[in-house]
Amino acid sequence: MAAESAPQICRWHVHDTAADVYAALVAAIDRLGHERADGPFNLVLTGGSTARAVYPRLRHLDTDWSAWRFYWGDERCLPPDHPERNSRLARDLWLDHIPLAPAQVFVIPAELGPKMAAQRYDAIVRTLPAFDLVVLGLGEDGHVASLFPGHDWGTAAAAASVLAVEDAPKPPPQRVSLAAWRLSRARHVFVAATGAAKREAVAAWRRGERLPAMAVTPPGGVDVFVDRLCLHD
Ligand code: 6PG
Repeated sequence: MAAESAPQICRWHVHDTAADVYAALVAAIDRLGHERADGPFNLVLTGGSTARAVYPRLRHLDTDWSAWRFYWGDERCLPPDHPERNSRLARDLWLDHIPLAPAQVFVIPAELGPKMAAQRYDAIVRTLPAFDLVVLGLGEDGHVASLFPGHDWGTAAAAASVLAVEDAPKPPPQRVSLAAWRLSRARHVFVAATGAAKREAVAAWRRGERLPAMAVTPPGGVDVFVDRLCLHD
């Protein structure tokens, strides 16, 4: 059951270049993977430019991959092997290059369509009390996962944990997304934004405007990794 959104705590990590942002993200993810106590390290993945930049670097971590469990914050309703699927991106750039058992990877079955896939994935994430880490990219309109301005973000008390998205403004229109409250049930949340194209979204977020990004309110706060290009100096 969702709780009403708590106030968001943001720690802004400003780096000179996008490459520095991605290096900092890789180091932070690696650190959390090592810091975990016994038991699995439950990680929620994103799609987009952050994924494309960071996943190839994560292949080379010196870590116990057998403890890692991979989930997604959102998925596009496309065939499983479609090149624009977030799960395909992660496999091509990272997961197919490290020693994993199939049982460690929990793909959103978005090929079933938004409603069915949301129901199926709810049954999977429902078994988890909290994620260890959620990684999100910030969209130009301030969206994260597939939670878009003017659409349902899943913050209401009765919101489902996984949302069926039928009319996303970012193609494809049909998607599946973890709700904001479910993304907030995490020990750590990292959000990345680089480049001038994200400047308006970052400025609106820092002004406290109601954006999907600000609806992710984990108790320990959000770590936002940005470069100077996307900050209003
Ligand atoms: C997706 C991603 C999405 C992405 C943002 C930012 O399916 O599109 O999961 O949430 O992270 O759209 O993507 P860019 O950094 O490529 O703008």
